[in-house]
Amino acid sequence: MATRFEPAGALRGALRPPADKSISHRAALIAAMGEGTTTIENYLDSADTRATLAAVEALGAEVEGAGTGPIAPAVQVRGVGLRGAQPARVDVGNAGTLLRLLPGWLAGQEAGSWTLDGDESIRRRPVDRIAEPLRRMGAEVRCREGRLPPLEIEGSALEGIEYELPVASAQVKSCLLFAGLLADRPSWVGEPLRSRDHTERMLAAAGARIAWLGGGVSVRPAKRLELGELTVPADFSSAAFFLVAALLVPGSEIVLEGVGTNPTRIGLLRVLARMGAEIEVEPVGKRGAEPIGTMRARASALRGVEVGGEEVPLAIDELPLIALAACFAEGETTIGDAAELRRKESDRVETTCAALTALGAAVEAREDGMRIAGAGGLRGGTVRSHGDHRIAMLGAVAGLASREGAAVEGMDAAAVSYPAFEADLASLLPGGG
Ligand code: S3P
Repeated sequence: MATRFEPAGALRGALRPPADKSISHRAALIAAMGEGTTTIENYLDSADTRATLAAVEALGAEVEGAGTGPIAPAVQVRGVGLRGAQPARVDVGNAGTLLRLLPGWLAGQEAGSWTLDGDESIRRRPVDRIAEPLRRMGAEVRCREGRLPPLEIEGSALEGIEYELPVASAQVKSCLLFAGLLADRPSWVGEPLRSRDHTERMLAAAGARIAWLGGGVSVRPAKRLELGELTVPADFSSAAFFLVAALLVPGSEIVLEGVGTNPTRIGLLRVLARMGAEIEVEPVGKRGAEPIGTMRARASALRGVEVGGEEVPLAIDELPLIALAACFAEGETTIGDAAELRRKESDRVETTCAALTALGAAVEAREDGMRIAGAGGLRGGTVRSHGDHRIAMLGAVAGLASREGAAVEGMDAAAVSYPAFEADLASLLPGGG
């Protein structure tokens, strides 16, 4: 069934977007590796992050307080210790981050075997990029057709590694840092471009010896981790849908509170500023190891830009939104160096281009990105989410900003990262506050 998003009056008001998905995954995993009980305030209650709590429970951690309503109490995770994961079959659902991060921890267990599998979309997502460096560390990892889930892991002794990632990826980097905690000597992971650094920050806060050197991150073997307590900031990637909606719908002005402003996550702001967007960020301190701020966005006249290089990993999940904004800009926008976009929950080069084309845009898919001809807006039409949460939410925002509205098929996919998306969006619309 399709959900309709009609052309909207101005978005107004203030909102705190839901908790950060990337940080919630890491908090549950590092808490499970830890000693004692970790209290995670504002843990994201979504399909992906529930899969991570179920996974750590399967590995022997005790979880309390999860998923009990819209205002979830803190989640408590009693860890099994760095070397205490129990053998299990783990269902990662749709969560690529869980699929890529968890094997680093499991591969270094002294004994035991694990299978990681998930939904139809997960079965198309490559894991060779973690399997290959893990094997170099001495890990026993098998995958289907050499590169796809299910993934089978046998615990074994690991050696430290110095490894330069071929493509910037926070998931691969994090996996190797977890494995490095269990190796016989220090490890180092370099990246061609910087990717999000939540794992490094959280491991350091839990007592791991992490250092930033030579364009990469080093980690020393650890005996124990202890996270204690942390509060997850609001997710910039969820906030981004409202920021772009406010830029595109005339007369809008919104405020988003408590949003994570980690510089490795907010590349979108830099791109939007070049496009002429009026967005202000007021820093308001830190949530644990992560900076947060208040963001204010107003409807703005936009111009086309070129996006590529180091900006890509810093805005990887927001590139579809840049393409949407580009449809409303004057002039052409190109997004390049973004072949990674084809390996997300869907092939987001294709699904973004298909969504925007269906709404009347002039968009061309390229091997490593897309080209968008600014056309002063979108007509409207029907968008298919392809089961991808970010494409579903993109379709909703596009519908509000379009001339005729959009029907989104598969809107339920939003629950992967943002179950309350439609209600929160409605609260910013006329009559919604
Ligand atoms: C994530 C990293 C990114 C991002 C994904 C979540 C993470 O992928 O696209 O949605 O939590 O580490 P990369 O591995 O390409 O950086």
